[in-house]
Amino acid sequence: MTFPFNENTLVKDIVNIMPKAADLFKKKRIDYCCGGGIPLIHAAQERKVDLEELMKELTYIYEAENHGKEDLKVWTDSDSITIVQHIQERYHEPLKEELTNLSPYVTKVARVHGGNHPELLKVHELFFHFKREMLEHTIKEEEQVFPLLLSLNKPNVENRDQIIAQIHELEKEHDVTGYLLKQLRVVTSDYQFPEDACNTFRLVYKRLEKLEEETFMHVHLENNILFPRYLD
Ligand SMILES: [Fe+2]
Ligand SMILES: [Fe+2]
Repeated sequence: MTFPFNENTLVKDIVNIMPKAADLFKKKRIDYCCGGGIPLIHAAQERKVDLEELMKELTYIYEAENHGKEDLKVWTDSDSITIVQHIQERYHEPLKEELTNLSPYVTKVARVHGGNHPELLKVHELFFHFKREMLEHTIKEEEQVFPLLLSLNKPNVENRDQIIAQIHELEKEHDVTGYLLKQLRVVTSDYQFPEDACNTFRLVYKRLEKLEEETFMHVHLENNILFPRYLD
């Protein structure tokens, strides 16, 4: 895919098409929200930001977001250590990063627009609940259950039943996060933002929807490809 932006693209359009660009603009103190209706070149001049460097960083974000869809067939044929490594690199690390980066926007829109759009208060509550659950869950997987699970490949492993019980526990936690994502869909009317929504409001909905998509793939890999290997 070709990089779709140039120096004349409006800052707000970049964020609308690629909501993660907001993190970079925030870092460079470029206003992408109410003052985002100016071309990138002017925004860079205003903030004395090197345009070439900025374009390079935007390209990097774009490439990271468009690195291709997950090919699940590859993973059904891979060994469990490879899958576990893939889950950690492709899902756990980006998830932790996104939960951290998205938090201030969720808080900001709830604070600024929660009066007129009470659904944003609900979004705030559900998002932070999801964040807590997911952070605890991924730490438990990485530090506790994945190493145990890989040890099941050895024939003489003890506590097999106990390890299997832990896998079931993880599946139950997946159900909880799935439920929270479903609730987020309900309160946001399937991530339809109102006409008058500011750019931050829009980016929150777009990034939450992306987070849902990523979480579904992540959980699918664990529930349907990795765990069943140990439950039969
Ligand atoms: Fe996971
Ligand atoms: Fe999981």
